Amino acid sequence: MKFFLDTANVEEIKRISALGLVDGVTTNPSIIAKEGRPFEEVIKEICSIVDGPVSAEVIGLQAEEMIKEARVIAQWAPNVVVKLPMTEEGLKAVNVLAKENIKTNVTLIFSVAQGLMAAKAGATFISPFLGRLDDIGVDGLGLIKRLKVVLENYGLKSEIISASIRHIGHMEAAAEAGSHIATIPGSLFPKLWGHPLTDKGIEGFLKDWGSYNKSLMETG
Ligand code: E4P
Repeated sequence: MKFFLDTANVEEIKRISALGLVDGVTTNPSIIAKEGRPFEEVIKEICSIVDGPVSAEVIGLQAEEMIKEARVIAQWAPNVVVKLPMTEEGLKAVNVLAKENIKTNVTLIFSVAQGLMAAKAGATFISPFLGRLDDIGVDGLGLIKRLKVVLENYGLKSEIISASIRHIGHMEAAAEAGSHIATIPGSLFPKLWGHPLTDKGIEGFLKDWGSYNKSLMETG
Protein backbone atom coordinates (compact mmCIF):
# COMPACT_ATOMS: atom_id res chain seq x y z
CA MET A 1 0.00 0.00 0.00
CA LYS A 2 1.20 3.50 -0.79
CA PHE A 3 1.04 6.17 1.91
CA PHE A 4 0.22 9.75 1.03
CA LEU A 5 0.36 12.56 3.58
CA ASP A 6 -2.88 14.55 3.88
CA THR A 7 -1.35 17.90 4.79
CA ALA A 8 0.19 21.03 3.26
CA ASN A 9 2.46 21.74 6.20
CA VAL A 10 5.95 21.74 4.78
CA GLU A 11 7.73 21.13 8.09
CA GLU A 12 5.46 18.16 8.80
CA ILE A 13 6.05 16.79 5.29
CA LYS A 14 9.85 17.14 5.63
CA ARG A 15 9.90 15.49 9.08
CA ILE A 16 7.68 12.54 8.17
CA SER A 17 9.04 11.95 4.67
CA ALA A 18 12.53 11.58 6.17
CA LEU A 19 11.31 8.10 7.16
CA GLY A 20 11.33 7.10 3.49
CA LEU A 21 7.75 5.80 3.59
CA VAL A 22 5.82 8.72 2.09
CA ASP A 23 4.73 8.13 -1.52
CA GLY A 24 2.81 11.34 -2.16
CA VAL A 25 0.79 14.21 -0.69
CA THR A 26 -2.84 15.30 -0.91
CA THR A 27 -4.16 18.77 -0.18
CA ASN A 28 -7.53 20.46 -0.43
CA PRO A 29 -8.58 24.12 -0.12
CA SER A 30 -9.19 23.77 3.66
CA ILE A 31 -5.75 22.21 4.20
CA ILE A 32 -4.04 24.90 2.08
CA ALA A 33 -5.91 27.75 3.83
CA LYS A 34 -4.49 26.62 7.21
CA GLU A 35 -0.96 27.39 5.99
CA GLY A 36 -1.68 31.09 5.27
CA ARG A 37 0.74 31.11 2.31
CA PRO A 38 0.19 31.48 -1.46
CA PHE A 39 -1.24 28.31 -3.02
CA GLU A 40 1.29 28.09 -5.85
CA GLU A 41 4.27 28.63 -3.52
CA VAL A 42 3.14 25.87 -1.11
CA ILE A 43 2.42 23.33 -3.85
CA LYS A 44 5.74 23.97 -5.61
CA GLU A 45 7.61 23.57 -2.33
CA ILE A 46 5.82 20.31 -1.50
CA CYS A 47 6.51 18.99 -5.02
CA SER A 48 10.22 19.65 -4.51
CA ILE A 49 10.28 17.70 -1.22
CA VAL A 50 8.25 14.64 -2.23
CA ASP A 51 9.02 12.61 -5.37
CA GLY A 52 5.52 11.16 -5.74
CA PRO A 53 2.17 12.70 -6.75
CA VAL A 54 1.07 15.91 -5.00
CA SER A 55 -2.62 16.80 -5.35
CA ALA A 56 -3.63 20.45 -5.74
CA GLU A 57 -7.34 21.24 -6.01
CA VAL A 58 -9.14 23.55 -8.44
CA ILE A 59 -11.68 26.07 -7.16
CA GLY A 60 -13.84 26.63 -10.27
CA LEU A 61 -17.16 24.86 -10.55
CA GLN A 62 -17.66 24.99 -14.31
CA ALA A 63 -15.72 22.58 -16.54
CA GLU A 64 -14.14 25.40 -18.53
CA GLU A 65 -12.87 27.10 -15.37
CA MET A 66 -11.55 23.83 -13.97
CA ILE A 67 -9.73 23.00 -17.20
CA LYS A 68 -8.17 26.47 -17.28
CA GLU A 69 -6.97 26.17 -13.67
CA ALA A 70 -5.80 22.59 -14.22
CA ARG A 71 -3.62 23.56 -17.17
CA VAL A 72 -1.90 26.20 -15.03
CA ILE A 73 -1.47 23.90 -11.98
CA ALA A 74 -0.09 21.13 -14.21
CA GLN A 75 2.80 23.45 -15.16
CA TRP A 76 3.91 23.94 -11.55
CA ALA A 77 5.84 20.67 -11.23
CA PRO A 78 6.19 17.34 -13.03
CA ASN A 79 4.68 15.46 -10.06
CA VAL A 80 1.63 17.67 -9.52
CA VAL A 81 -1.83 16.09 -9.80
CA VAL A 82 -4.94 18.20 -10.37
CA LYS A 83 -7.72 17.49 -7.89
CA LEU A 84 -11.30 18.07 -9.06
CA PRO A 85 -14.66 17.63 -7.36
CA MET A 86 -16.97 14.74 -8.26
CA THR A 87 -19.60 16.68 -10.19
CA GLU A 88 -20.98 16.60 -13.72
CA GLU A 89 -18.71 19.55 -14.61
CA GLY A 90 -15.78 17.85 -12.87
CA LEU A 91 -16.28 14.72 -14.99
CA LYS A 92 -16.33 16.76 -18.20
CA ALA A 93 -13.07 18.41 -17.16
CA VAL A 94 -11.41 15.09 -16.22
CA ASN A 95 -12.24 13.70 -19.65
CA VAL A 96 -10.56 16.62 -21.40
CA LEU A 97 -7.55 16.61 -19.05
CA ALA A 98 -7.02 12.85 -19.43
CA LYS A 99 -6.66 13.35 -23.18
CA GLU A 100 -3.98 15.99 -22.47
CA ASN A 101 -2.16 13.53 -20.16
CA ILE A 102 -2.79 15.74 -17.15
CA LYS A 103 -3.04 13.58 -14.03
CA THR A 104 -6.23 13.99 -12.00
CA ASN A 105 -7.61 13.04 -8.60
CA VAL A 106 -11.41 13.08 -8.36
CA THR A 107 -12.38 13.96 -4.82
CA LEU A 108 -15.48 13.89 -2.60
CA ILE A 109 -16.56 10.40 -3.69
CA PHE A 110 -19.27 8.90 -1.50
CA SER A 111 -20.81 6.16 -3.68
CA VAL A 112 -19.80 3.32 -6.00
CA ALA A 113 -21.60 5.05 -8.89
CA GLN A 114 -19.54 8.22 -8.40
CA GLY A 115 -16.29 6.24 -8.26
CA LEU A 116 -17.17 4.31 -11.42
CA MET A 117 -18.06 7.53 -13.28
CA ALA A 118 -14.76 9.15 -12.29
CA ALA A 119 -12.74 6.09 -13.28
CA LYS A 120 -14.52 5.88 -16.63
CA ALA A 121 -13.87 9.57 -17.24
CA GLY A 122 -10.14 8.76 -16.99
CA ALA A 123 -9.22 9.87 -13.45
CA THR A 124 -5.72 8.84 -12.40
CA PHE A 125 -6.91 8.65 -8.78
CA ILE A 126 -10.32 8.50 -7.14
CA SER A 127 -10.77 9.59 -3.52
CA PRO A 128 -13.59 7.97 -1.54
CA PHE A 129 -14.03 9.65 1.87
CA LEU A 130 -14.07 6.87 4.48
CA GLY A 131 -14.24 9.02 7.62
CA ARG A 132 -16.96 11.40 6.47
CA LEU A 133 -19.20 8.41 5.61
CA ASP A 134 -18.55 6.76 8.98
CA ASP A 135 -19.40 10.12 10.61
CA ILE A 136 -22.96 9.87 9.26
CA GLY A 137 -23.33 6.18 10.12
CA VAL A 138 -22.67 4.85 6.60
CA ASP A 139 -20.08 2.06 6.09
CA GLY A 140 -17.10 3.90 4.59
CA LEU A 141 -14.99 0.78 4.36
CA GLY A 142 -17.77 -1.00 2.44
CA LEU A 143 -17.44 1.68 -0.24
CA ILE A 144 -13.69 1.06 -0.58
CA LYS A 145 -14.24 -2.72 -0.91
CA ARG A 146 -16.97 -2.32 -3.51
CA LEU A 147 -14.99 0.20 -5.55
CA LYS A 148 -12.01 -2.17 -5.61
CA VAL A 149 -14.19 -4.93 -7.06
CA VAL A 150 -15.84 -2.64 -9.62
CA LEU A 151 -12.52 -1.25 -10.89
CA GLU A 152 -11.16 -4.80 -11.22
CA ASN A 153 -14.32 -6.04 -12.95
CA TYR A 154 -13.75 -3.63 -15.81
CA GLY A 155 -9.97 -3.30 -15.81
CA LEU A 156 -10.23 0.41 -14.96
CA LYS A 157 -6.84 1.90 -14.20
CA SER A 158 -7.71 4.55 -11.59
CA GLU A 159 -6.05 4.07 -8.21
CA ILE A 160 -8.15 4.29 -5.06
CA ILE A 161 -6.98 6.80 -2.46
CA SER A 162 -8.77 6.04 0.82
CA ALA A 163 -9.28 9.57 2.13
CA SER A 164 -10.72 11.18 5.24
CA ILE A 165 -8.84 8.66 7.38
CA ARG A 166 -9.48 9.31 11.07
CA HIS A 167 -7.58 6.54 12.91
CA ILE A 168 -5.19 3.60 12.53
CA GLY A 169 -8.11 1.16 12.17
CA HIS A 170 -9.25 3.01 9.03
CA MET A 171 -5.81 2.67 7.43
CA GLU A 172 -5.50 -1.01 8.38
CA ALA A 173 -8.96 -1.86 7.06
CA ALA A 174 -8.34 0.06 3.83
CA ALA A 175 -5.09 -1.90 3.36
CA GLU A 176 -6.93 -5.17 3.97
CA ALA A 177 -9.55 -4.16 1.40
CA GLY A 178 -6.79 -3.62 -1.18
CA SER A 179 -7.01 0.17 -1.45
CA HIS A 180 -4.01 1.24 -3.53
CA ILE A 181 -3.31 4.26 -1.34
CA ALA A 182 -4.30 5.73 2.02
CA THR A 183 -3.86 9.44 2.61
CA ILE A 184 -2.99 9.99 6.24
CA PRO A 185 -3.17 13.24 8.25
CA GLY A 186 0.22 14.40 9.56
CA SER A 187 -1.00 14.09 13.15
CA LEU A 188 -1.95 10.43 12.63
CA PHE A 189 1.10 9.26 10.68
CA PRO A 190 3.50 8.91 13.67
CA LYS A 191 0.90 6.73 15.43
CA LEU A 192 1.22 4.14 12.65
CA TRP A 193 4.57 2.91 13.91
CA GLY A 194 4.00 3.34 17.64
CA HIS A 195 2.55 0.88 20.14
CA PRO A 196 2.55 1.17 23.96
CA LEU A 197 3.62 -2.49 24.28
CA THR A 198 6.66 -1.80 22.05
CA ASP A 199 7.69 1.09 24.35
CA LYS A 200 7.06 -1.02 27.46
CA GLY A 201 9.05 -3.92 25.93
CA ILE A 202 12.10 -1.72 25.20
CA GLU A 203 11.95 -0.27 28.71
CA GLY A 204 11.88 -3.79 30.21
CA PHE A 205 14.75 -5.06 28.04
CA LEU A 206 16.95 -2.07 28.92
CA LYS A 207 16.16 -2.38 32.63
CA ASP A 208 17.06 -6.10 32.64
CA TRP A 209 20.18 -5.43 30.56
CA GLY A 210 21.23 -2.76 33.06
CA SER A 211 20.90 -5.11 36.06
CA TYR A 212 22.73 -7.91 34.16
CA ASN A 213 25.63 -5.60 33.24
CA LYS A 214 25.79 -4.25 36.77
CA SER A 215 25.95 -7.76 38.25
CA LEU A 216 28.70 -8.75 35.75
CA MET A 217 30.77 -5.70 36.70
CA GLU A 218 30.34 -6.39 40.40
CA THR A 219 31.43 -10.05 40.07
CA GLY A 220 34.17 -9.19 37.55
C1 E4P B 1 -8.01 14.13 0.90
O1 E4P B 1 -7.87 14.04 -0.30
C2 E4P B 1 -9.22 14.71 1.50
O2 E4P B 1 -9.38 16.02 1.10
C3 E4P B 1 -9.13 14.59 3.01
O3 E4P B 1 -8.72 13.29 3.34
C4 E4P B 1 -10.43 14.95 3.70
O4 E4P B 1 -10.35 14.63 5.04
P1 E4P B 1 -11.37 15.17 6.12
O5 E4P B 1 -12.67 14.47 5.95
O6 E4P B 1 -10.73 14.82 7.45
O7 E4P B 1 -11.49 16.65 5.92
